[in-house]
Amino acid sequence: MSKVALVTGGTRGIGAAISIALKNAGYKVAANYAGNDEKARAFHESTGIAVFKWDVSDYEACGQGIATVQAELGPVEILVNNAGITRDAMFHKMTPQQWHEVINTNLTGLFNMTHQVWSGMRERSFGRIVNISSINGQKGQMGQVNYSAAKAGDLGFTKALAQEGAIKNITVNAICPGYIGTEMVRAVPEAVLNEKIIPQIPVGRLGEPEEIARCVTFLVSDDAGFITGSTLTANGGQLFV
Ligand code: CAA
Repeated sequence: MSKVALVTGGTRGIGAAISIALKNAGYKVAANYAGNDEKARAFHESTGIAVFKWDVSDYEACGQGIATVQAELGPVEILVNNAGITRDAMFHKMTPQQWHEVINTNLTGLFNMTHQVWSGMRERSFGRIVNISSINGQKGQMGQVNYSAAKAGDLGFTKALAQEGAIKNITVNAICPGYIGTEMVRAVPEAVLNEKIIPQIPVGRLGEPEEIARCVTFLVSDDAGFITGSTLTANGGQLFV
């Protein structure tokens, strides 16, 4: 029977590519989204992938959402914590709201989601967790103190939880994408993107969402059973770690 994979932020950007790649690899996929009903409906219509709406920054909503997914599709065996937001601002202009929104979604969201599938994975002695961090969690990024802090936190979360899951055959890994051609990156001012960011990428281009999706497909596969607590870096050579 095919395994059930839940992808947060799974109807747009990198998350949509992950949902589609997992479906094509034979998994039963549930794509979570938080706000954009129109995009989610279009995604469902074009892919046939089931979509579920809740906010990953809300612990209770995650519990209810996961219960619905499990009632419809079966126990979640693969969780891809992909949902993420930016609220970029130089630190001297950053508001507490911009700080908290990013931390609550990009870091606490991992706790809210993973905590609620963890017991089931332990009971079944199988699980795959993949956390989508970022190059900016590895190197820091001006204008992103909030985002860099959250994404660095995702790496600590991954390494600690991997140690707890290992004996129960649950792997926990992170992927650090570089700059990928999604709406999130295209929202960066064009001059900053063209003059500051792209020249720092040795391959000379933005990444494609599918290039990250293929990393996920590998990490959740049986072939990757010995890989846990690792960080897979995919950034076009922008940073070597
Ligand atoms: N790299 C290098 N320099 C940068 C920069 C960057 N990423 N972002 C801003 N700067 C520079 C600007 O060019 C500018 O320099 P000059 O004064 O010499 O022109 C200076 O910093 C101040 O920037 P702004 O004039 O744009 O200041 P602002 O207050 O209007 O806006 C900002 C600041 C909101 C941070 C805006 O510059 C911005 O959005 N920058 C991009 C930040 C970024 O890289 N975000 C990544 C988003 S994609 C993502 O997060 C996905 C992922 O995981 C990789």
